[in-house]
Amino acid sequence: MMKSRSVGIIGTGKYVPEKILTNADLEKMVDTNDEWIVSRTGIRERHIASSDQATSDLAYEAAIRALESAGLTAEDLELIIIATITPDTMFPSTACILQDKLGAKKAAAFDLSAACSGFVYGMATANGFIQTGMYKNALVIGADTLSRITDYTDRNTCVLFGDGAGAVILGEVPEGRGFLSFDLGAEGAGGELLKLEGGGSRLPASNETVQGGKHYIYMNGREVFKFAVRVMGTATEEVLRKAGKTKEEIDLFVPHQANIRIIQSARQRLSLPEEKCVVNVDKYANTSAASIPLALVEAAEDGRIKEGDTVLLVGFGGGLTWGASVIVW
Ligand code: ACO
Repeated sequence: MMKSRSVGIIGTGKYVPEKILTNADLEKMVDTNDEWIVSRTGIRERHIASSDQATSDLAYEAAIRALESAGLTAEDLELIIIATITPDTMFPSTACILQDKLGAKKAAAFDLSAACSGFVYGMATANGFIQTGMYKNALVIGADTLSRITDYTDRNTCVLFGDGAGAVILGEVPEGRGFLSFDLGAEGAGGELLKLEGGGSRLPASNETVQGGKHYIYMNGREVFKFAVRVMGTATEEVLRKAGKTKEEIDLFVPHQANIRIIQSARQRLSLPEEKCVVNVDKYANTSAASIPLALVEAAEDGRIKEGDTVLLVGFGGGLTWGASVIVW
């Protein structure tokens, strides 16, 4: 039998826009306060794209850093996948827009929609392409500009979200390294809990959709919270089982950064000490598909991940969806 290739992360990059929106700023916009936001979510500030920045611009900044860190040029790229729910346009895809910006002429390019789980879905997809030998490398980006679909008059949601992009280059790695397992899943029946209805083929953009605020995120926070706590637990157990690893073997836990209480509950279920869990929700808030790569890349750049470390990623999001992976760095 032909031995399957080992695929892993060979380059990383991240980008957040310069402008920062603090809890104090939000206090001036809606009826909220720093104490409520910090105690319920752990969020202190978030980065917001400038008016001339779209998702492909954030993705571009993360991509050029990832290429540099992998020692590759854009011409070397064979595949680009962007996980996003805030594409520049309905079409062309943001991946195609980025392919042109980078000059990655050889690369196939497409977007992937799995909300906050999108980055893990994207890595699993690219992993499959490289394992079969169809492509040698892939640029996978989680990028979202949630500020563009957030209603800044709705205190239930506007305190939760931020903008950013995280990128990785995948390629072949030595045996025993790279991705050991993935666990992806969906519960489409829960789609109504977290959605953006306006502007699609069911409810095309019209004066009514705009007046009704249908181009903003709708979320049932309490129900999404329950789903998150449940699947963060089941997905981590399943992905560890598939990898043949125990929770004691995890060196670093990189959960989706939506809410500190969800993160702590997942960490405690794994019986991990705080220092083994990456938390940056305080600085960036929930950046959807960018959340896991921003946390992963930050940890890698800070030297918190060392060669040979076992890293567990897990996320959940709209769809509803979840995605988890175990990687040996
Ligand atoms: N400031 C002050 N009060 C607020 C605010 C605010 N910003 N937002 C809500 N409240 C109020 C509510 O109106 C409510 O008041 P009421 O009891 O008088 O009605 C009260 O605070 C409590 O609301 P709860 O919903 O019980 O608050 P909860 O503890 O559930 O926290 C939160 C809300 C933070 C949204 C939480 O439910 C959560 O994090 N849910 C998961 C969110 C998430 O992970 N979403 C993923 C989306 S990712 C994607 O795919 C884009």
